[in-house]
Amino acid sequence: MTFTQERTLATQTRADFPILDQEIHGKPLIYLDNAASSQKPLAVLEALHYYYTHDHANVHRGVHTLSSRATDAYEGARDKVAAFINAASRQEIVYTRNATEAINLVAYAWGNANLKSGDEVILSVMEHHSNLIPWQLLAQRTGAVLKFVQLSETQEFDLEHYKSLLSAKTKLVAIVHVSNTLGCINPVEEIVRLAHQQGARVLIDACQSVPHMSVDVQAIDCDWLVASGHKMCAPTGIGFLYGKLDVLRSMPPFLGGGEMIADVFLDRATYADLPYKFEAGTPAIAEAVALGAAVDYLNSLGMDNIHAYEQELTTHLFQQLKQIPEVQIYGAQSGDRAGLAAFTTGAVHPHDLSTILDQAGIAIRAGHHCTQPLHRILKAQSTARASVYFYNTPEEIDAFILALKEAIEFFGGIFG
Ligand SMILES: Cc1ncc(COP(=O)(O)O)c(C=O)c1O
Repeated sequence: MTFTQERTLATQTRADFPILDQEIHGKPLIYLDNAASSQKPLAVLEALHYYYTHDHANVHRGVHTLSSRATDAYEGARDKVAAFINAASRQEIVYTRNATEAINLVAYAWGNANLKSGDEVILSVMEHHSNLIPWQLLAQRTGAVLKFVQLSETQEFDLEHYKSLLSAKTKLVAIVHVSNTLGCINPVEEIVRLAHQQGARVLIDACQSVPHMSVDVQAIDCDWLVASGHKMCAPTGIGFLYGKLDVLRSMPPFLGGGEMIADVFLDRATYADLPYKFEAGTPAIAEAVALGAAVDYLNSLGMDNIHAYEQELTTHLFQQLKQIPEVQIYGAQSGDRAGLAAFTTGAVHPHDLSTILDQAGIAIRAGHHCTQPLHRILKAQSTARASVYFYNTPEEIDAFILALKEAIEFFGGIFG
């Protein structure tokens, strides 16, 4: 397959990722575990270094120069995140540790105050555990009932089934934008529109979409959206919750402590305005600043270019995977989909496969990818998953396919 020259982002960006330039077991590293976490470009590492060597102090609390520089950098990054997902206001961006914490924030702060016994929450069977367990806990606390959208015949989101679950009892819909196992891109605008017709609120888990394509929260019209920095070139320990201003305003605080208050008395307190009401304690300042640098970096490449290049890489990956008779791929195999493939091979257990490929310098993931209920439905205890990012090359896909074929042949020879 020929790759469009201007879309070969790997050529343009490879040198920005020093970690990729190393050998594992004497073979050049091929990193295909991007859905779990992305690597970090120099621009992000330098932003961290610069912040700690020039600007660090605690934010919001001081009038001295370093404190105001740190505050400017921290708040400047918030502006970048807000613009990146087209939030209407910077106050709609709440920093969290990761997407998981952001979902828990909504489940506790909004869920405890708004759900009661018999209310219904719609999720799908493809949710990551992070978008399942917080709602299970909420259901246990309130008596709310969880309903699950099943898979369509093509192993995608079944919109008709979703429509049949919606009713006046639906108070919340929480759905993944891009599945980290099936790779499908769910019709979130339609999902939100239908939920709002019933007066339900909608949370979108955008962990696997925000790093790879342009995401516009106003176009989606969701009430909340969550993402993790570490999957989008930023450090670990930083993520964000987007929430519509009026929805966030209506929510009580989640964690209490410093930074989130306006006035404190011994027996009561009033709370700070948004977004600080939800940012208790000293935040991950350097990580937030580096998230801003990651957003700048992704913007410099162009999210549409990233998506288009990953589409080409994915087509290349699937074309070759489909030619291996032993390989069973899960999820839709064509159309607009994410750059990841979850699969099994008859003879080789996914964990063994991952270990063998590691010997060839190739990093892929094996397991249930935090979607255990989905794996039960797929009748696979675990799958192997290869996932790309814009710095991966077609040649890396070829090397992965070759190593995969060799592993299957080797195990087929032993057990076949
Ligand atoms: C779809 C999806 N949702 C949620 C998460 C949880 O992200 P984190 O562990 O960064 O909170 C992940 C991470 O793999 C994911 O892929």
